[in-house]
Amino acid sequence: MTQKYTKVRGMHDILPLEISKWQFVERVLTDTAKFYGYKEIRTPLVESRSLFERSIGSDTDIISKEIYAFKDRKGRDIALRPEGTASVVRAFIESGMSVEKKVFRFYYYGPMFRYDRPQKGRYRQFYQFGVELIGSNHPFFDGEVVAMLHTIAEKLKLNGYKFLVNTLGCSNCKTKYSDIIKDYFSGRKNNLCNDCIKRIINSPLRILDCKNPGCKQSISNAPLIGNILCNDCLYHFQKFQEYLKVNNVPYKVDPYLVRGLDYYTRTVFELYVEGDENAIAAGGRYDNLINQLGGPDIPAVGFAIGMERLISLVEYNTPSEPLIYFACIGEEAKIKGTKIINELRKEGITAETDYKEESLRSHLKTANRAGANWCIIIGEDEIKREEFIFKDMLSGKQITIPFNNYIKRIKELLKC
Ligand code: HAM
Repeated sequence: MTQKYTKVRGMHDILPLEISKWQFVERVLTDTAKFYGYKEIRTPLVESRSLFERSIGSDTDIISKEIYAFKDRKGRDIALRPEGTASVVRAFIESGMSVEKKVFRFYYYGPMFRYDRPQKGRYRQFYQFGVELIGSNHPFFDGEVVAMLHTIAEKLKLNGYKFLVNTLGCSNCKTKYSDIIKDYFSGRKNNLCNDCIKRIINSPLRILDCKNPGCKQSISNAPLIGNILCNDCLYHFQKFQEYLKVNNVPYKVDPYLVRGLDYYTRTVFELYVEGDENAIAAGGRYDNLINQLGGPDIPAVGFAIGMERLISLVEYNTPSEPLIYFACIGEEAKIKGTKIINELRKEGITAETDYKEESLRSHLKTANRAGANWCIIIGEDEIKREEFIFKDMLSGKQITIPFNNYIKRIKELLKC
């Protein structure tokens, strides 16, 4: 028996029936990014494994459990990108752009890979649309990227969405808070899950993100970062919120919001719709990452949208594409028909036929199955009279059109 192939676990196909919805959403995202002044950047799907370890953090789930990594033929450690920020920063430094003192806005789109546990909204290959704004630590830029996500949510008519926002503080505040959280949970190990017990040593802040009911109980009384923030961090967080208020962005401060990637400092945020526990998009500020990856000391902020999650929430009716089907009966008609079909295609009109069909009846059946709006019929008689029949498939009405000047006539009939 021949082997039946199926998708690799965690992967998914995007079939022709769904593609126009994807293309619609992609257009909204790229148009919005352009209106906000972003330029597209495309980076490879593979990078050095160490780029992700250094940026996302070796103790994070993404690196310790989910990275797709392998050695290439020369023994180099390679990884499929689990996210886009590290690659954009790498390209930014490597290309020399980082020497220019200005604000850069990049957007990117493509597949990411994480060996996650597959379930609704969680895949091992998934698409992200992301933006990175590099070159300023002004809190209004944090507001601007969130406002851009808000514009996208409005344009796509998402229902009941809101942003959760928080600050992790600058690297000093973050370290101080991390130590406080470490002390707090060290005395409450009995209530924590095994993963969180391990996190106490290397990534205590990640405990705040745990969904385990026992951990959640302890988290609800954990010390708040707001009490230890330095004045600059407090000011930054206030100004960021001022921007959101002025621009009517629906948000709520979640004082325990942390992110699963180590590079964040200060602002972090996630976009949710009511009743869904998966974030549709998430991001934040990463003021030290460019420097950490060998570049100059340049601050940055950005986000990424999970496309599968976003698309599952968008309502979209696929518009039917106008189609002309050709029923060519006989060899001569087939030759004449192919010429007309190709002329119409050059004019931007969608036309197709099935060369195998011989009778008018079977042609009409095929035209119906293809969802054709019109059928052009050419048989021996039509060849003799140098004209073809143009049939409206819905009303059944038909007219004849001479072989000369048919493009103009068809365009009139199709109103294009
Ligand atoms: P992230 O939170 O890891 O952030 O991912 C962003 C979004 O990607 C998530 O909110 C979610 O919608 C989607 N996503 C993540 N994992 C999966 C998965 N396994 N299946 C389907 N969708 C998924 C980042 O990736 C950061 N690079 C965002 C960023 C950009 N921060 C600053 N700039």
